Amino acid sequence: MESFYRWALKPYLRPVPGTGEEAPDGVRRSYIRRERYDYRADFSGGLWRLETSGAAHRPAPALACGDHGVTRRPRKPIFPPTIPAPMRFGKQVVLVTGGSSGIGLATAQAFLTEGAKVAISARNLPRLRAASRSLRTFGDVLPIRGDVSKATDARRFALETERRLGPIDVLVNNAGIWIEKDLAAFTEAEYDRVMDINLKGAFLCMKYVLPGMVKRRRGVIVNVASDSAFLGAPGSAIYGASKAGLLLMTKCVALEHARDGIRVNAICPGEVRTPMMEADARRLGVRFGEYYRRLAARIPMGRAADPDEIARSILFLASDESSFMTGAALSADGGSTAR
Ligand SMILES: NC(=O)c1ccc[n+]([C@@H]2O[C@H](COP(=O)([O-])OP(=O)(O)OC[C@H]3O[C@@H](n4cnc5c(N)ncnc54)[C@H](OP(=O)(O)O)[C@@H]3O)[C@@H](O)[C@H]2O)c1
Repeated sequence: MESFYRWALKPYLRPVPGTGEEAPDGVRRSYIRRERYDYRADFSGGLWRLETSGAAHRPAPALACGDHGVTRRPRKPIFPPTIPAPMRFGKQVVLVTGGSSGIGLATAQAFLTEGAKVAISARNLPRLRAASRSLRTFGDVLPIRGDVSKATDARRFALETERRLGPIDVLVNNAGIWIEKDLAAFTEAEYDRVMDINLKGAFLCMKYVLPGMVKRRRGVIVNVASDSAFLGAPGSAIYGASKAGLLLMTKCVALEHARDGIRVNAICPGEVRTPMMEADARRLGVRFGEYYRRLAARIPMGRAADPDEIARSILFLASDESSFMTGAALSADGGSTAR
C-alpha cells in the first residue's frame, strides 16, 4: 500500500524541500505540500498516516482516502479520473517473476502505471490472486502460477504471456529467496533451493524468453541481483554466491546478444523494506522497529529503500533512457557498496 499511496498522491503532493527525515523510532516521515497546505506523512507498520502539520494560514482540507490508517477522510474522491504519468511502456508486454510481493509487486505496479501490460508469476496462489486484484486498478495484469526453478513452469510463463498479452518486450527476473545461515549450517536441500530459485530460475526464464526477443531483434532483460553479489558477510555465502552468479550470467548473456537489439542488465538493491525483511526480523525474534533501527544504522543513507525506489531503477534499466547500457550492474543500495 505504501507504494500505492506514494504513486497515487504524487501528482498532487510535492515534498517540502529539505524536510524528509527518518524518525528515531524507524518511522519514515516526510512533509508534503498540496497547494498551499502542509501535511506530515508518516509511514510505519505498512500504513501511511497523513496529518496537517500546520504552516497553512487556514485549516487544511481533508486529504487522501482509503482504509489504511489515513486519519482524515475526504468529502469527495481525491483522485480525478485521469492521473498524469509518463507512458514510457505504452502497450509493451512485461513479465515480472515474483510479482506478488515486495520489489516484484512494486515493479509490476510501476510498469502498469506507465502503460504496460504485465504478467506476474509466483507460487502461492492466494497471494498471487490478491496481488493481481490490487494491480487491476492500474491496468492489464495476467497472474501465472508457477515455480521459476521448474523448466516446464518457466516455459509456460513465456508461452502464456505471449499468448494472452503478446510478444514479451521486457523480462524482469525478480523471484528470489533469502536464507541467511553460516555455510556449515546450510543443508544440501537449502543450498539447492537458493541456487534453484535465484540462479537457475533466471537462467530458465531467460532461456525461454530470449528466442522470441532474438527473432524480433528487440527486448530488455533486468535481473534482480543484490549488493550481496559484491559484499561478503557472515551468513551470506550461499545467497551471495547465487547473486554473484546471476551478475556474471547477466554480463555473459548481454554479450551474447549485444548485436541482437537485446539489452541485459542487473539491478543490485541493498536493504529493501519488503516482507523478506519482516520475515528475517521474525526469524531472529526481534521486534521489527529494533531490527530496522540496527539495520538502518549500517546503511550510509541511514535507511532502507522502499520497494518502489527499486522499481523505478528497474524501469530505468528497462526503458530507452538506458539505451547504451548492457551487461551493467546498477547499484541501488543507499551507498552500501560505495565504501
Ligand atoms: N528485500 C531486500 O532487502 C532485497 C535486497 C536485495 C535483493 N533482493 C532481491 O529482490 C528480489 C525480490 O525480493 P523481495 O524482498 O521483494 O522478496 P519477497 O517480498 O519475499 O517476494 C519474493 C517474490 O518471489 C516469489 N518467488 C519466490 N520463489 C519463487 C519461485 N520459486 N517461483 C516463483 N516465484 C517465486 C514470491 O512468491 P511465492 O513465494 O508465492 O512464490 C514473491 O512474489 C529477490 O530476488 C531478492 O533476492 C531483495
